[in-house]
Amino acid sequence: MKTIIEPFRIKSVEPIRFTTEAEREEVLKRAFYNPFMIPADEVLIDLLTDSGTAAMSADQWAGIMQGDESYAGARSFYRFESKVRELTGFRHVIPTHQGRAAEKILFSLLGGSGKAVPNNAHFDTTRANVEFSGAEAVDFLTREGENPDSIADFKGNMDIDRLEQFLRGAGRGKVPIVMMTVTNNTGGGQPVSMQNLRDTSALCRHHGIPFYLDACRFAENAYFIKQREQGYRATPAKLIAQEMFSYADGATMSAKKDALVNMGGFLAMNDPDLAQRARNLLIITEGFPTYGGLAGRDLEAIAIGLDEVLDEHYLQYRIRSVQYLGERLTAAGVPILQPPGGHAIYLNAKKFLPHIPVEHYPGQSLVVELYRAGGIRSVEIGSVMFGTYDSSGRLIPARMELVRLAIPRRVYTQSHIDYVIEVVAECFDRRETLRGFRITHEAPALRHFTAQFEPLG
Ligand code: F0G
Repeated sequence: MKTIIEPFRIKSVEPIRFTTEAEREEVLKRAFYNPFMIPADEVLIDLLTDSGTAAMSADQWAGIMQGDESYAGARSFYRFESKVRELTGFRHVIPTHQGRAAEKILFSLLGGSGKAVPNNAHFDTTRANVEFSGAEAVDFLTREGENPDSIADFKGNMDIDRLEQFLRGAGRGKVPIVMMTVTNNTGGGQPVSMQNLRDTSALCRHHGIPFYLDACRFAENAYFIKQREQGYRATPAKLIAQEMFSYADGATMSAKKDALVNMGGFLAMNDPDLAQRARNLLIITEGFPTYGGLAGRDLEAIAIGLDEVLDEHYLQYRIRSVQYLGERLTAAGVPILQPPGGHAIYLNAKKFLPHIPVEHYPGQSLVVELYRAGGIRSVEIGSVMFGTYDSSGRLIPARMELVRLAIPRRVYTQSHIDYVIEVVAECFDRRETLRGFRITHEAPALRHFTAQFEPLG
């Protein structure tokens, strides 16, 4: 087979700024060794996130000019609504400014103390919104999905047996909703199979509990199903995505991922009463139901992006380019979470830096070194992000210590990725010289965004 190429030409470019290692050392000090505090202009290759960082197409930019900015009943809203309905089948479509706004509304209505929300694996903002409502967020990833080295097709799957046990044991009304994150971001961008969606859905129906998708990366998940699940090879990605949504009663969506836009999201559902209550909250917190925290032009760009993301040349290039990064790193001996995910490669920092104990945050050490060595910005997904403390103040570490290299959509070319491979491999070769970190300042929730660090000697 020939090389899989970027299925686009580049019409507009954005220069990136080169810095020296000495300059980056100073930047790191000023940022307290936290990548979220580094000015983007000081970053060469920005793999902090795939969220809101996509390059829009010429069609989307044209759509921006056509956005209808009417407060109520904008044409762009109807276009957006009909596109989301066509894709998801959900009757009620509520625009929000991003994914977490949809989560906040949903869990304000369904959460509360004494409740529990199961998920294959909550993303950090989802967990925070569940917990902020007073409810408990519980993960039921399969054992296979919890093992960073196991090679399997659908490591994002829900552990149906454990979920069933939990639902059976839970009192009436304790579980207001079950969520499924496609693909599983915190567990390596791993997909969920159609069979697992079907089974989880049937279990939820049996217990009379609504089943929702956290759908940010639905198209990438659909493409994995096409490639890996029996019976889907000849099915268009769009039909696969529609079938995925057909098993759910609703969805939260951060359009900043698979809608190929820089801002936006939605909450969608079939339940008319819940939708009405959600709209009432939306008006207080986001805006009128036909714009919900977005400009008309944003709604227009989302509607177009939702079509473009299901183009199979795009999806083939997208999944293959992430896989390429994973394969090359593996060939260089670098430990990564296997197999490569849909939107990112996750370096296994525990194995990369076995000499740094988890209390000294090996992931953070690696994040700092990738920036210092090559101007690459990544993010720790480990005990900095998910660690908590016991009553004596001792760290309860996360299950895995990972560093995510998230690939923005349609932004970087293969030579950018080759450069990333070189830098990671070079850091790996001198891994014994890396040292751990100590947290000197942290916020009570979502601490990774603002935490300050100090290198240990
Ligand atoms: N759910 C998942 C699975 C996510 O990955 C994100 C965001 C959200 C919900 C929240 O969406 O940012 O629009 O409010 N993930 C980004 C990331 C931030 O870097 O992975 P949002």
